[in-house]
Order: sequence, then C-alpha cells, then structure tokens
Amino acid sequence: MKHGVGFIGYGHMGSGYHYQVAEDRRDAADLVPVAVYDVRQSQRDLAVERGLKAYDDLDKFLSDDEFDVVVVATPNNFHREMTCRALEAGKHVICEKPAAMTSGEIEEMIATSERTGKKLFIHQNRRFDVDFLAVKHAYDTGRLGKIHTIESNFCGGTLMGCRAFEDHAGGILFDWGVHLIDQIVYLIDEPVKSVWADVYKEKNPEVDDRATVIFTFEGGTKAKVTVSGTFLAPYQRFAVYGEKGVLWMDDIYEKKGTFREAKSAQWKKEDAIAYGKDGAFVRQQEILEEDLDRVEYPDDGYEVNQDWAALYTNMIDTIDGKAEMLVRYDQVRTVFRIIEAAFESSKTGKVVEL
Ligand SMILES: NC(=O)c1ccc[n+]([C@@H]2O[C@H](COP(=O)([O-])OP(=O)(O)OC[C@H]3O[C@@H](n4cnc5c(N)ncnc54)[C@H](O)[C@@H]3O)[C@@H](O)[C@H]2O)c1
Repeated sequence: MKHGVGFIGYGHMGSGYHYQVAEDRRDAADLVPVAVYDVRQSQRDLAVERGLKAYDDLDKFLSDDEFDVVVVATPNNFHREMTCRALEAGKHVICEKPAAMTSGEIEEMIATSERTGKKLFIHQNRRFDVDFLAVKHAYDTGRLGKIHTIESNFCGGTLMGCRAFEDHAGGILFDWGVHLIDQIVYLIDEPVKSVWADVYKEKNPEVDDRATVIFTFEGGTKAKVTVSGTFLAPYQRFAVYGEKGVLWMDDIYEKKGTFREAKSAQWKKEDAIAYGKDGAFVRQQEILEEDLDRVEYPDDGYEVNQDWAALYTNMIDTIDGKAEMLVRYDQVRTVFRIIEAAFESSKTGKVVEL
C-alpha cells in the first residue's frame, strides 16, 4: 500500500535522512514524500524546490489528506505536542528520538496513539548500526552465552545546534545516550532493576555533555554506557563479556571485531601451597585450564550491513498489518526510566531501584 509522508521539522534529519528514505521508495510504491511543516521559510523553500507542498500553519498541514504518515523531526521539546496533534488528526507518526522529555510525556503519546488507533513509532535507527549488529549476531547465535557485562561507549557526539540548549531538551544523554541505552535494552530484553550514574556538564553551561550510566537487568547482566561530547578521541565502542566468550568492537561503523573464546576449558583439582604461622602446607584448589582462541568476528559468514531503512520497512509493514512493531512501547518506557533514574542517581550519588 502506498503511504504519503508529511514532515514536521525539515532540518538536518527531516530534509536529509527521512526525506531521502521516502523519496528512494517512491518507485517501490510504498512511500511518497508529500508535504512539509516547518517554522523556517528556508526549509519550506527547500520543500517547494523538491516539489513538495510547504505549510506555515500546522492545522492546515494536518488537514491535508494526501498523506497518512507524519515524521516528527523537530527539536526534542516539541515531540510530544507535534506527535499528539498528528495522531489526533488521524495520521500515523514516526517520531525522532528521544521520544519526548519525560516518562509522563511518553505516556501521553502512547495513550493518544491507543485512543486514536493510529500507530506511533520511535525512530531508534541505531538498532541497525553495523557495530551493534555484530554484537547482536554474536548474542543471538549463542556464541557469547549469557552476558555478564556489556560496555558501550560513544565519544564525539558534540552537542551542535539545539542539542546544546536546555529548553530544547538537549544534552548528551538525550542525544546519544538514548541510542546506546536503547540498543542494550533491545538486546537483553529483560526488565531493568537498578541504575547508578554520573552525569555532568563539563563544558556546556546548560546541559549534560558527559555521562556514565550503569544499569542492571533482572537476570544479572550489567551494562555500562559512557557518552561524551567533550572528549573526542574514540573509546572502544563495545566490550561484551559473555560466559562463553568476549567480543570487542573497536569503533562505531566498524563491521569487524575481535572475539576471544575458549576452544577447550576444564576445571582441575590441584595441590597448592598455603602458609600458616609455622610454615607452609598443602591445600587443594580448583584451577581453570583454557585454550583461548582469538578470531576476527563475525567468522561465520554473517554479512553485517547497516540498513537504517530496515526500521522504516518494519514501521510501514506494521501500519499495513504485516509485522509487529520493532521498537516496542515497553522498551521506550524502560529507556526513559533509565535516563530519568540516571539524572536522579547522579544528583544523590545513590543507586536508584526501578
Ligand atoms: N535518529 C538519529 O540518528 C538522529 C540524528 C540526528 C537528529 N535526530 C533527532 O531529530 C530531531 C531533529 O534534529 P535535527 O538535527 O534534524 O535538528 P535541526 O535543527 O537540523 O532541524 C529541526 C527542524 O525543526 C524545525 N522546527 C523547530 N521548531 C519547530 C516547530 N515548533 N514546528 C515545526 N518545525 C520546527 C526547524 O526549523 C528545523 O528545520 C531531534 O529530535 C534529534 O534528536 C535523530
């Protein structure tokens, strides 16, 4: 089925990525870009140059019935209002991350979607980044076993434009943290029980520009996420410690990592020397004998391909009743509760139980 797309906010993401996905799929006949609502004349002019309709009035834009899908790509503080108004107008909505500014706003957006019967999608496209896909493949194929600890870092998300301003709900946790936390919540897919964090304003006077968040899943897996907009040298992107092996992915957008696993492992009883007041004596202990392998990963023929548009396919298939929503509401809620708990923990210095 063909879906017309209207864009609220036609800046970097709206006129760049989202427009291009719809334009590229015009021939595939499932999407077609139709109209733009933006507060800036320059962005409306760009829309007209591309053959789209341009509106400076939101109500008129929303009453245009040539499109049934709205992409919300405004600064974060407008997400809730734009999403709810579009849903009320009978449109399905693809809303950029972060979904909103608070859990309360997200509940309002979900409730509006349920009441109107129109779908709401949160655009967590980094579920399709290559470095994450490699980690997910290792986990899904059982190669890592249960994960004890997963470390995920991204440094270099300089807070440009409205990301640097408090009233636009900027900050590094909302900008990059929301992606990295979402990836892990999606991967482990268990409730989260506690959060500890250190979130601070290093250079930016208004919003957080560096944060480390540690959260623990009910099954015991611990995640440590570090994001920074002030320290630009890359940290290692992923270090995943599983019961069967360890996977490192060095940098964002890298397809290959390093995997270490035991080709053989056995626990053996052995005599060891211990010491008392009067000298040495023999005690028994168990020691692990392992033969460790080190390979370039993936090593099983899996082709890692970055395909953010796969999320679009899922969203359109969900509207058409052919798929289940990939970015589930319970995951969106969990990611937000982690971020809110991170701010609280950083203020009090205490672990926050969810
Ligand atoms: N998923 C991703 O990978 C990704 C990447 C970058 C940005 N984003 C998200 O996309 C959103 C937009 O970011 P951006 O980088 O495109 O910002 P931007 O500043 O380049 O674009 C925002 C656009 O919204 C317009 N706008 C502002 N207020 C408006 C309003 N009230 N009504 C209508 N239009 C309004 C602006 O004129 C501008 O054209 C943010 O929520 C951001 O977090 C997501």
